[in-house]
Amino acid sequence: MSLRKTPLPRLLLNNVACMRNAQQILRNLNVSIHDGGALVLMGTNGSGKSTCLRMLAGFNRPSAGKVLWNGHDITDSGVFHQYKLQLNWLSLKDAIKENLTVRHNVEWFELLESKEGRSVPALELMGLGKLINDKARMLSMGQRKRLQLARVLAMDRPIWLLDEPSVALDDEGVKLLEYIIAEHRKRGGIVIVATHLPIEMEDAMIVRLPPRFPRRMTFIDMLGRPDIS
Ligand SMILES: Nc1ncnc2c1ncn2[C@@H]1O[C@H](COP(=O)(O)OP(=O)(O)OP(=O)(O)O)[C@@H](O)[C@H]1O
Ligand SMILES: [Mg+2]
Repeated sequence: MSLRKTPLPRLLLNNVACMRNAQQILRNLNVSIHDGGALVLMGTNGSGKSTCLRMLAGFNRPSAGKVLWNGHDITDSGVFHQYKLQLNWLSLKDAIKENLTVRHNVEWFELLESKEGRSVPALELMGLGKLINDKARMLSMGQRKRLQLARVLAMDRPIWLLDEPSVALDDEGVKLLEYIIAEHRKRGGIVIVATHLPIEMEDAMIVRLPPRFPRRMTFIDMLGRPDIS
């Protein structure tokens, strides 16, 4: 009989709940993610997808249950110090400095990581090679999203938390996003995505959060229902 132990999941959400502004947003969330794994959070507007990512990033604490990284509670300050260095965060707030060049907007983040030489290849991969010396204020919405993704690549951290990463991307941009996610996972990285739009990710775990504010039936809805007329 084999006595090999199953490896601990890299990330474990154990019966997690989360409150915001004294309201329960998430409850009974149980997910385990191993290296190379992917989690897709889906659900209606306001269902708590971004809240879940924020909690995993340490911006909100779970109100019940635990988030464990390598078996350790991320809210322990010693653990969080290490854990936060694993994270790459992409959200709708893009933290782009308009007066810096496209290149400097990525290199600045790379510098904070004490890394170098990754920014230009990352920008080229994301299709912004010809724009690297332009001021960031010249970028379109989709190009700004590509810049954010180039940052994620240049920072090169193992756990990606991506909030609506495909919003504003064209078809080629979505394919690039799918490609960099797949490559990151092949190297053992973890990707957690909140999205409304389809993003192809092989063997991803999908969690559909229940709606928090189901829409009440209106008079107009009733007119369309033969059983009520
Ligand atoms: N700063 C905040 N303070 C208190 N409550 C908030 C705050 N931001 C969001 N919420 C509430 O938390 C709930 C979940 O919001 P969240 O942004 O996580 O939803 P979401 O699933 O990401 O929605 P969307 O699809 O619109 O991005 C919403 O009801 C929202 O009103
Ligand atoms: Mg959201």
